[in-house]
Amino acid sequence: QAQQKQKAESLSDLLEKAGESYCKHLRGAPKAIEYLKKRGVSGEVSKRFGLGYAPAGWHGLASVFPEYDSPQLEEAGLVIVSEEDSRRYDRFRDRLMFPIRNVKGECIGFGGRVFGDEKPKYLNSPETPVFHKGRELYGLFEARTALRDMGYALVTEGYMDVVALAQLGFANAVATLGTACTPEHVQKLFRFTEAVVFSFDGDGAGRRAARKALDAALPLATDTRSIKFLFLPSEHDPDTFIREFGTDAFARYVGDATPLSRFLIEAASEGCDLGQAEGRARMASNARPLWSLLPDGVLKRQLLSEIATLAQLNSQDLTDIWAQETARTA
Ligand code: CTP
Ligand code: MN
Ligand code: MN
Ligand code: MN
Ligand code: MN
Repeated sequence: QAQQKQKAESLSDLLEKAGESYCKHLRGAPKAIEYLKKRGVSGEVSKRFGLGYAPAGWHGLASVFPEYDSPQLEEAGLVIVSEEDSRRYDRFRDRLMFPIRNVKGECIGFGGRVFGDEKPKYLNSPETPVFHKGRELYGLFEARTALRDMGYALVTEGYMDVVALAQLGFANAVATLGTACTPEHVQKLFRFTEAVVFSFDGDGAGRRAARKALDAALPLATDTRSIKFLFLPSEHDPDTFIREFGTDAFARYVGDATPLSRFLIEAASEGCDLGQAEGRARMASNARPLWSLLPDGVLKRQLLSEIATLAQLNSQDLTDIWAQETARTA
């Protein structure tokens, strides 16, 4: 245990050191500075998030780590060992670097963006003893005081969304790391705030991500918490939206965000014609697995009666039918 802790500490030391070097390289990389300028990222916010540049060579980190051959660099996800000839090379090359920190502020990994249209657009650190994508949120450490001051968290999809929002007045933004939002993500957020607004991209992937976030959030939707969903116009993500339309426009979207209860009903009603008995039946059947994830409380009771009303049933009938359905599918 103690030994494992020691090891984890030294992995994040290595990552920290790599991050410092990426930062230094940024100053000497006009290409990266131009890119940030083009995307409207200020020097101040770039510093706040510790953005950096991973140089283009294969062994840039060899000058940072004299022990470039050490297995720890591989374990930290910084160096890749070729399966063919066991030669080592840097994982991140010629990319804009976003350090990812845990809630204690320790560097646990990176996301690296290409400057053009090359694929993959973002390369992330692999799962390591210190980095677990399904648990960590980009920007949470940087957002922690804003979460307290603003009273809610904005959950986005991307690195650049967090950076743009922070620069334009929403320092309470965080992002999932290219994975679906998990219950662990939501649980972690609720350690810092009682209110969460999910803001995904206005594209198809964003809508699917919102549905996943609904599933992840439902079990944690206790009566004292507020969970909402913000839908941007298609073709926009929080970064492009706030840069084009400004802080006030984004704040209006936050104010108009859809509460979880309404999103649940919308999700269950999707493709159902509530003007027909068949559509109402299908809506009720779709609603059951979602509703049953809710923790017991007033909200859960109220949603039951709301769904029943929409289905043109009383709550007792709906409860009985759902109990039968649950028994059948169990
Ligand atoms: N992502 C990833 N790997 C990819 C593409 C995306 O890990 N190949 C993750 C990144 O965390 C990214 C997020 O998914 O920030 C959202 O993806 P997308 O909307 O496609 O990218 P943007 O964040 O909008 O990227 P940018 O604005 O820099 O083009
Ligand atoms: Mn761990
Ligand atoms: Mn997208
Ligand atoms: Mn974007
Ligand atoms: Mn996006």
